[in-house]
Amino acid sequence: VDAASAVIRAQEPQDRAALDALHEQAFGPGRFARSAYRIREQVEATRGFINLCACLGPELVGAVDLTPITVGGRGGALLLGPLVIADAYKNKGIGLRLMQESAAQAVTDGNAVILLVGDLPYYARGGYQCVPRGQIEFPAPVDLGRLLYLELKPGVIGAYSGLVCGAR
Ligand SMILES: CC(C)(COP(=O)(O)OP(=O)(O)OC[C@H]1O[C@@H](n2cnc3c(N)ncnc32)[C@H](O)[C@@H]1OP(=O)(O)O)[C@@H](O)C(=O)NCCC(=O)NCCS
Repeated sequence: VDAASAVIRAQEPQDRAALDALHEQAFGPGRFARSAYRIREQVEATRGFINLCACLGPELVGAVDLTPITVGGRGGALLLGPLVIADAYKNKGIGLRLMQESAAQAVTDGNAVILLVGDLPYYARGGYQCVPRGQIEFPAPVDLGRLLYLELKPGVIGAYSGLVCGAR
């Protein structure tokens, strides 16, 4: 099994059970308290989400979800999370491919920046950097030291400051 043989495609309604099982395995019942879930709850629009999965044959082995947000009222931003890979398929580059494919689709959709709360040593592989402390705030408690961004349009991060809200 290698990353190149995984097919990355949009999540479909019939993937629901496999996606729930994947998220349950990775995060347990506490997943509903995670920042990305809480932000997503606020978003009523059905446009602008990016929901991808990675498949090997019939098996769904990974997924990533990006939710449209505003930062200090400014749109063109997405919150990535969660990114999850099934235990048996970790460390094969599939997570990185989902990170990269989601960024490519975010560009196509006209977005300027992706935010996430996660580990810099991992997400730096996809070009993510630390948001300067104090620039961006969340409505729910998150570890702001782990708040990362990926610019899709060079130089835009300075224009994104203030509170993160689900886009409406
Ligand atoms: C984090 C996760 C998505 C990575 O997916 P993956 O497909 O296994 O990762 P990749 O194959 O792209 O990259 C693997 C490399 O990243 C490293 N890595 C994985 N998680 C890391 C982390 N949290 N911090 C630093 N490095 C990490 C691995 O050690 C490996 O290093 P190597 O290439 O030097 O051997 C996956 O491990 C996972 O689902 N974890 C549980 C859920 C989670 O924590 N998600 C992130 C928060 S939303």
